Amino acid sequence: MSEAGPDPAIAVEGLTKSFGQVRALRGIDLSVPRGSVLGVLGPNGAGKTTAVRILTTLLAPDGGRATVNGYDVVRHAAAVRRSIGLSGQAPAIQEELTGRENLEIIGRLYHLSWAEARSRAGELLEQFDLTEAARRPAKTYSGGMQRRLDLAASLVGRPSVLFLDEPTTGLDPRSRLGMWDIIRSLAASGTTILLTTQYLDEADELADAIVVIDHGRVIAEGTAEQLKSRIGGDVLEFTVPDRARLGDAVAAVKRVGGAEPHADAEAGLITVGVGSRGSEALIEAVRALDGAGVTTRGLALRRPSLDDVFLALTGHAAEEDGQPPGRRGRGRRAGGPGGRAAGWQDGRGGERQLAGRAAGRRPGIDQGGE
Ligand SMILES: Nc1ncnc2c1ncn2[C@@H]1O[C@H](COP(=O)(O)OP(=O)(O)OP(=O)(O)O)[C@@H](O)[C@H]1O
Ligand SMILES: [Mg+2]
Repeated sequence: MSEAGPDPAIAVEGLTKSFGQVRALRGIDLSVPRGSVLGVLGPNGAGKTTAVRILTTLLAPDGGRATVNGYDVVRHAAAVRRSIGLSGQAPAIQEELTGRENLEIIGRLYHLSWAEARSRAGELLEQFDLTEAARRPAKTYSGGMQRRLDLAASLVGRPSVLFLDEPTTGLDPRSRLGMWDIIRSLAASGTTILLTTQYLDEADELADAIVVIDHGRVIAEGTAEQLKSRIGGDVLEFTVPDRARLGDAVAAVKRVGGAEPHADAEAGLITVGVGSRGSEALIEAVRALDGAGVTTRGLALRRPSLDDVFLALTGHAAEEDGQPPGRRGRGRRAGGPGGRAAGWQDGRGGERQLAGRAAGRRPGIDQGGE
């Protein structure tokens, strides 16, 4: 980030990593100022987890350099581990143990006395709303509770830098909001956070700065506002059942949006960025389409998504290893206006790491790979 001070909490330069033929990271640069939250936004397979694993010393990079709290992640791995927390993409809790036991054991691994470990566990259980479930084995917890316990576990050692790999993926909307509150309060207390996500709204809510990564490269970086203004703010979207009228529909909404409409001929889907003019633009669009005699279906306004980011930045929808993004479900878009990223800097390019837990206690866990 351009506002990075001389001593960022996380500094990454030209990081590369390949798995056989797969170039997971192709030269990533990052800088996370102390006390700030960086959102790393990217689709499946972009390289998010690979980057997190390197920064948390779980994986050695092929090239480039990374420091966390001033310590080199390769040469000073033990010092890095002492100052960080990681809540990985898959929760790394011991399912047979109760919530309380999970936290107490980690406290002991941090060389706390039993009394201190117990008191720290109690504090975290309270903070994460797990006091009532504290005596139950973690395997009886819901996904959201396991996620909270996992995050609580990453905080036992009071890390100054926290890595959260897709902290809300798979959570229901209410749990997701709860997790956002927790992350916000950690950020407010001065913890530096690097979080990965596939959701622009999540990065928007939580991050001071965002980097967008795709196929192992940073393709854009900036604040959420800068990113959204590149996309054109809110998005007006509709389908045109009669494909022959697609061109007329585009012409009709051209004046409504601030940005060039994007038409997917195959799906008959038209999207156009309308900035912050929301409902006003919606009404104008209805009038214009009506005036042109074009029938539409599902005309609606929505918040921009990761796909809109990709469309705006790269001119194509996000892909996973060259395949359309099936899991996020908007793979029907293809083609479109390239070069709308002007003004953005061009891209250059379930395991937690804890002091005690790092040293081979969980050797079998490897969340990398698709
Ligand atoms: N251990 C591994 N062995 C082989 N290939 C791997 C391994 N780990 C990751 N990869 C590959 O590297 C690329 C980046 O994977 P990574 O897990 O970093 O992506 P991601 O951005 O975290 O994706 P997701 O959103 O699905 O978690 C993918 O193509 C993946 O298949
Ligand atoms: Mg991942």
